[in-house]
Amino acid sequence: MNLEDRIAQIREDMASQRYTTAAKESGAIVEFAFREIYRRSIGLVDDRTRMKALAAESKIGGPGKGIGAFTLGQLYSLFRESDLLVAYGQSMSTQLRAIKMINFDELIRLRNRMQHELYEADRLEAQLFLHCVETMLETFGILTLNADSQVAVEGAQTVSSPSSVPPPPKREASTYRASGTQELERLILQGSFQRPLDLRMFEYALDGLESSVLGVDVGCADGEVTRDRFERFPQFEHVIGIDKDSECIAAASAVSDGQRWNFQVLDIENADAEEKFRQLVLRQDEESPVVVFMAFLLNHVAAPIRVLRILRSALPKGSKVVIRSGDDFFTHEYPDHAGRLKFILGMSEKAPRAADRRHGRKLYGQLYRAGYRRIRMFADPILSPNLSETERRSLYKIWFDHRLAPWERALENGNQVSVEDLQALREALVEYELDMEDPAFFFLAVGLGAVAEVS
Ligand SMILES: C[S@@+](CC[C@H](N)C(=O)[O-])C[C@H]1O[C@@H](n2cnc3c(N)ncnc32)[C@H](O)[C@@H]1O
Repeated sequence: MNLEDRIAQIREDMASQRYTTAAKESGAIVEFAFREIYRRSIGLVDDRTRMKALAAESKIGGPGKGIGAFTLGQLYSLFRESDLLVAYGQSMSTQLRAIKMINFDELIRLRNRMQHELYEADRLEAQLFLHCVETMLETFGILTLNADSQVAVEGAQTVSSPSSVPPPPKREASTYRASGTQELERLILQGSFQRPLDLRMFEYALDGLESSVLGVDVGCADGEVTRDRFERFPQFEHVIGIDKDSECIAAASAVSDGQRWNFQVLDIENADAEEKFRQLVLRQDEESPVVVFMAFLLNHVAAPIRVLRILRSALPKGSKVVIRSGDDFFTHEYPDHAGRLKFILGMSEKAPRAADRRHGRKLYGQLYRAGYRRIRMFADPILSPNLSETERRSLYKIWFDHRLAPWERALENGNQVSVEDLQALREALVEYELDMEDPAFFFLAVGLGAVAEVS
């Protein structure tokens, strides 16, 4: 959910007297804002403050614990001990009067009580949290605050009343394109690793449905994975694949018979998407349930909940959505060479207009917020020791090969990209490829999915 939606949700929680929920969510945003202010400020402030901040980070966190793992209390201590907030404010010519009036100690105490003592916040306490969120965002001009995208920080802003916080821009769709031989080959390989998970979800989704079901693949690319999955189930007499990429749809259509398989261009985020989608799925039989498959689609769109709502509203009751996603940060390795995996994943997350690299963990909440209630989650671990050497090479291709591409696209689009970072990423990837070939190396990734019913 983007920042605007999150704040709207907090206000809704307040209006419905869900004060503890509102206070907890505000606390989470404050925590996030502190982390992002840290990341933004550390390269801008004077050397003395930077040294103080780095020393405070390792003192507070102890060995191996960075600010990513800090609690709100620890984050605040870090800022207080290093005067980072003040130095950052100065570097942005921003006044911090309103920030200085916030009693962070009291907020942290309250948050700890809510978390550890089941304390229930009252209206005034929840308001205090929300006010803190608004003040921090406005003071530092934070416009977007997705865990999945970079925080956008405007230039200098002066402090004024919290109600004048400008509406933040929406998260943008990724610049990803599936068309291109290399990426399409990678998708097929990726699909083969995720096949067991998909088949389990398809079996679960089809259980109890009548004999003839319409299948739809949203974000079908060139239709290879579509065919592989749906053709295993004779219940799908008719399958429609849709994608916004016309090159992909042309490739998919070129090898389809036009009877069981049908591929069409449709951007599921367009303003007219709901109507078009409804026409597509209802033209057969208004009552028959439909099974919609979406693999690695939601992590690319700007507003996943909106897409899920479109489907829920357009599909007949009893229909199912089968969704597969991923989450970079459910990945583990051993040995971990000086945080190399973290660096590679961090670079992917930082790339401008990258896909949501933490989408897997959000899938359940997004479905729930889109109004689905019958939701079954699925997870499938991929473990390198269980794979052959060829499979481990393939796993490298799926998981790592594409990680330079968003940066290269960013360069093409005229974004400023750090040459050193890019070189470091290249080198880390070369090393990773060697490690994945090593039979003694341990790597774990998790495929995540959900089946939800339209009720
Ligand atoms: C990562 S690929 C996944 C392809 C395929 N589902 C698979 O798992 O192999 C994402 C696909 O979603 C498509 N896509 C992204 N945004 C879309 C949108 N708004 N509407 C329709 N398709 C979209 C892309 O063009 C791309 O083909």
